[in-house]
Amino acid sequence: MYQQEIKKINVKNDPREAKYLDEWVMKYRLLGMKGRCADYIPALGESNLSDLGVYIISSDGGEIKSGDWEIPFTLQSISKVISFIAACLGRGISYVLERVDVEPTGDAFNSIVRLEMHTPGKPFNPMINAGAITVASLQYGESPEQKLESIYAIIEKMVGKRPTVNEKVFQSEWKTANRNRALAYYLKENGFLESGVEEALEVYLKQCSIEVNTKDIARIGLILSQNGYDPIRKRQVFPKEIAKLIKGLMLTCGMYNASGKFAAFVGIPAKSGVSGGIMASVPARYPQELPCQMGCGIGIYGPAIDEHGNSIAGVELLKHLAKVWDFNSF
Ligand code: DON
Repeated sequence: MYQQEIKKINVKNDPREAKYLDEWVMKYRLLGMKGRCADYIPALGESNLSDLGVYIISSDGGEIKSGDWEIPFTLQSISKVISFIAACLGRGISYVLERVDVEPTGDAFNSIVRLEMHTPGKPFNPMINAGAITVASLQYGESPEQKLESIYAIIEKMVGKRPTVNEKVFQSEWKTANRNRALAYYLKENGFLESGVEEALEVYLKQCSIEVNTKDIARIGLILSQNGYDPIRKRQVFPKEIAKLIKGLMLTCGMYNASGKFAAFVGIPAKSGVSGGIMASVPARYPQELPCQMGCGIGIYGPAIDEHGNSIAGVELLKHLAKVWDFNSF
């Protein structure tokens, strides 16, 4: 049934696309009631379980949005994508990859187990906390402020506005970050941190607490889908080589220990955060007449998360979009 409908709806901003999306958002938001918010960070425990919003931006600037797309939320682990890009820009790809690997773990995002199992304790990838804390420490700059500036600058270039940190969320994380502190001390012991433990944690937890909405992350997803080129502002924001590398990491590690299933059933580079955000990047697909045929960025917010830390409603909505609009790389 959808196949016939799809043929008719590849027109920019066709109101029918929005209508379908509204129906799907209404359906999938109910799934949120089964989950829970990331209350291990106390300030995130206050979110509304049935919120669900989505924003899609296509390469020609067409936009479709639905539901609670305007609600601000914190980047959390989605920031790991941005901070990896910033570190590669500031230090060069090979410098970064000497300090963090690019292998999926199949473990939870905050797991400590592999650091000790493999000598010399090099973090497996920049999408798990151990890797992201390492990347935070090696950002260009001496102080946490300067290192954060590298991250803010690339966000500002992509999103068009200066990012702000949600202080309440940052404080909430800072006070409860015992596991992250343990990871950071272990990394420090093995020589992987290029700053003090507290400095690396400050950068990491502040980047996690940057406030965005679905439109902001959809724009970043779009730039990734175009290999670092911003088709709206018509400029290369970062090199293609970095875009390809981070998309490979998003596909293999972006949804934590559910990355394999997500790659199999959705099949696009995506990154989730425990606040319920998902940033996804859809490549151009040929030779079909489909919405966003030349690629798009997707931003999703649905704060009820599953045991892996991924938005329950968001993942199901993306699975559905992969099926009906062929939002799939393969
Ligand atoms: O370090 C933490 O626990 C959080 N600031 C970020 C974790 C996160 O988003 C993992 N997600 N799915």
